[in-house]
Amino acid sequence: MTNRRKLGTVEVSALGFGCWAIGGPFSDTEGKPLGWGEVDDDESIRAVRRAVDLGVTFFDTADVYGAGHSEEVLGRALAGHRDEVVIASKWGNVFDADTKVRTGTDASPGYVRRALEATLKRLGTDHLDLYQLHIGPSIEDAVALREAGEDLVRDGLVRGYGWSTDDPGRAAAFAAGPHCVAVQHELSVLHDAPELLAVCDRHDLASINRSPLAMGLLGRRTASRPATGADIRSAAPDWLRFFRDGVPTAQWQSRVDAVREILTSDGRTLAQGALGWLWARSERTIPIPGFRTVAQAEENAGALAHGPLTSEQLAELAEVATAPGSPAVAAG
Ligand SMILES: NC(=O)c1ccc[n+]([C@@H]2O[C@H](COP(=O)([O-])OP(=O)(O)OC[C@H]3O[C@@H](n4cnc5c(N)ncnc54)[C@H](OP(=O)(O)O)[C@@H]3O)[C@@H](O)[C@H]2O)c1
Repeated sequence: MTNRRKLGTVEVSALGFGCWAIGGPFSDTEGKPLGWGEVDDDESIRAVRRAVDLGVTFFDTADVYGAGHSEEVLGRALAGHRDEVVIASKWGNVFDADTKVRTGTDASPGYVRRALEATLKRLGTDHLDLYQLHIGPSIEDAVALREAGEDLVRDGLVRGYGWSTDDPGRAAAFAAGPHCVAVQHELSVLHDAPELLAVCDRHDLASINRSPLAMGLLGRRTASRPATGADIRSAAPDWLRFFRDGVPTAQWQSRVDAVREILTSDGRTLAQGALGWLWARSERTIPIPGFRTVAQAEENAGALAHGPLTSEQLAELAEVATAPGSPAVAAG
């Protein structure tokens, strides 16, 4: 299944498209950006449709991206193609669609169905293939949310559910639900996650990989091409470790420099090599790179033709990452 992956009972392309950036600007209650800056909706729609043409069948969004705008744009782009694609969204953040402010979170079981109904309306569909918890309540509180997910499956509103979490304990707790089919977590050639992949193996879950391009670091962002304006990378909250003031930090840039030659050694671009690493890492991985342009959609979908990196390339990368004094080790 080189180019296909299992997501619960359905099969999807091994590559999904992440729809955070195409939601456009939104912010927290202090006005700090939570989006990736201005977007051209027509270009976003063309990019989604181009991805479908090139064989991509999986799209990941969230209600909060662009305060509802990402779901609306994705719904417009996929109108008439609903049966050809698999759509995932997320709940848990609360926002004001008019002011485009994320106002807080809601981890109550009663909120789940309300949030889903609004999501379905924005997407213009009657069901989701995957519904993911987007916030980090305690495992005890999440058990009730897992049950709410089961109710939605029973009512035919979602096919399966999962948790977007980097905590293996939380992922495993959700996996106890019969229709939990995936965990969404960070994974990239710059950030391995062996414990989460082990949870996926143990519980037969898909591993949906967010930030597979390290938020553009494994792309074309450098000190001379900084992210600007209302792009979250230019404000860089504490959890965003790759960038400061829109520029890759020196430590992370040196990590990229250390892996670049191997990732691009067989004619792949850096981004395509980074996606190839993810497919070689496990047969459960589904990277969901973000995008804003048709050119990025074509380059990322083009990675499917290259497929996973070879075991030799993986071994070379492991050596670079673990060599004493290597940038990867120095950066911790
Ligand atoms: N908590 C969560 O659940 C959570 C958190 C984060 C992300 N996600 C999901 O994961 C998806 C992807 O993660 P991410 O947005 O953090 O980052 P990412 O996929 O690692 O990086 C995306 C960015 O990389 C750049 N890029 C994309 N394709 C490229 C190419 N071919 N060549 C060069 N640069 C390229 C673009 O930015 P520039 O061109 O502007 O540099 C793009 O916006 C999101 O869209 C979202 O669906 C979920």
